[in-house]
Formats: sequence, structure tokens, C-alpha cells
Amino acid sequence: MAPLLDICDLRVSFGSAEAVRGINLQLDEGEVLGLVGESGSGKSATALAILGLLGPAAKVTGQMVWCGSTGSDGMERALAENSRSALEIAGLDLLQQPVEVLRRLRGREIAMIFQEPMTALNPVMTIGRQVAECAQAHQSSWTGRDAKRRAMAALEAVAIPEAARRYDDYPHQFSGGQRQRILIAMALINRPRLLIADEPTTALDVTVQAQILALLAQLQREYGLAMLFISHDLAVVGQVADRVAVMRAGQIVETGRVREVLTRPQHEYTRSLLAAVPTLRTDREQPLAMIK
Ligand SMILES: Nc1ncnc2c1ncn2[C@@H]1O[C@H](COP(=O)(O)OP(=O)(O)OP(=O)(O)O)[C@@H](O)[C@H]1O
Ligand SMILES: [Mg+2]
Repeated sequence: MAPLLDICDLRVSFGSAEAVRGINLQLDEGEVLGLVGESGSGKSATALAILGLLGPAAKVTGQMVWCGSTGSDGMERALAENSRSALEIAGLDLLQQPVEVLRRLRGREIAMIFQEPMTALNPVMTIGRQVAECAQAHQSSWTGRDAKRRAMAALEAVAIPEAARRYDDYPHQFSGGQRQRILIAMALINRPRLLIADEPTTALDVTVQAQILALLAQLQREYGLAMLFISHDLAVVGQVADRVAVMRAGQIVETGRVREVLTRPQHEYTRSLLAAVPTLRTDREQPLAMIK
């Protein structure tokens, strides 16, 4: 597999507080990497750093090389769009790029879905229009009709029932699971190469969580997407990821094939994370394992 993103010695600090302390991560095209760790370990700071969305309060250093768009697909897309394209960005350090380059990359090559679907949607705009706007933001030559057709197809791809009839409905008229599906449609409408999913199922109940995970896994395979899947739950990561990186206090303490890490964790912190997941055999009289 060709490399897609190569992160080297990434550091993020807010004043004197170091949220990310020198991490290295590599992601191949089409690969799913799970990033797991307890609350405050620096997972979201890492994701936002990749997208250049941390804001001026954060100091970000290191190297983040975007290797994407070397394949024929990227080439074709670049030619078809006749635009200053992702091709120009391939091989460059994202941390050194001006805002407009990152803006072009976001949504087009790298997309993100967040934990809370309601806050990520505009409550006073119909979902059809929100999805169509995502498409048009990166395809300026598209007419409203093109964008609507594409939006409808995207909503159908994430299995929104009766997408055509519901196109003009507002976010509050959908369930939490459906709203997360709509966000997935928005993230994937421009066929990005990398999807960053930051705790995409944490706000959902267990049954809906399983459906969303299955949908993400299906779309990931269908589109050949690479995915950075962030969760505090090692068991959830185990269902979707090929590889996993375990993060603690801003550092990666263990990384490996997901099956290896789940069955033979090397680091004590990973063992604690695993021990904190209750199973049918967990003695209910015992307190959950403490992470030291
Ligand atoms: N904008 C900010 N200003 C100051 N400190 C911040 C900011 N964003 C994050 N931090 C701090 O950086 C550290 C890492 O935060 P981050 O949000 O990356 O954790 P996380 O692993 O995503 O946790 P969670 O599982 O709760 O989402 C925390 O100590 C947090 O308080
Ligand atoms: Mg987070």
C-alpha cells in the first residue's frame, strides 16, 4: 500500500500545557488506523492538527507529509477538475502550508466527522441544502441541479430512508443515528482519501452505534478510503481498524496490528484499557481496573 500521511514528531501545546508530545504516525492509502486513549490523552488535538483547525492558541511543530494523490485516480481527478489540485500538495509538509492550501485539502482530500452530530449541522438549514453545499464548495463548476443530484445520491448511499422526500427536512426532524449518517454523507460527498472520525459513535446508543460502525466499514471498503478512527474504546476500534495506536498523556505508548494489540498488549496502559472493558465474565462485585 502506498503511504498517504506521514506524521513525524508532532507536538501540540496550549501555553505551557503539552497536549501532544512528539508522536509519529503513518497511514497508508485505504488503511484504517485506530487511535485510542483515555480522555485528555491528545486524540482530538492530533486530529485537529492534521486539518489545521487548532486555532491560534495552539503551537504546533513537527512534520506532517501528505503523500496522497500519487495514484492514477488522483491524476484523473486533477485533470478532470482542471484546478490547482491536490497533486500540487502531494509530498508537502501540511504544517508549512498557507491557509488556502489547507482549506482546499479539507473536505476535498481529508474530511472529518465529529462526535456530536447535532452541533455539527446547521439547525436552520435543510439537510439537502447542507449536503449539496458541501459538494458545491469544492466543485465550483457544478450547477445547483448537479449538486442536488449528487447530494441525493450521497444520502441514499448512507441509507437515509426516503431520501428524496426528506431532502427538505431540518436536522431536528432526524434521529441521532440518522444525523450521524447525514454527516457521513457530507464528509464523503467529495470522495476524500482520508476520513478522520473523532468518536463518531460515542453519543449514540449501542444498537445505533453498531449500525454506524457497519456503515463506515462498508463505505471505507467501497471507496478505498483511509480512515483515522478515534475512540476511547479499544473494543470499538477493534471492530473497524487494521492497526491501532494507543495514546496516553500526549504520547503513543503502543502501536501494532489490531488483533495483536488486543490479544497480546505489550504496554501496561493498553492492558488497563482492555481490563476496563466489562465482559460477561467480569465479576460484578469487583471495581473496574484502575489505569495507573
Ligand atoms: N483549545 C484548547 N486550549 C487549551 N487546552 C486544550 C485545548 N484543546 C485541548 N486542550 C488540552 O489538551 C489535552 C488533550 O485534549 P484532547 O481534546 O486532544 O483530548 P482527547 O484525547 O481528544 O480527549 P477526549 O477523549 O475527552 O475527547 C487536554 O489536556 C485538553 O485539556
Ligand atoms: Mg477528543
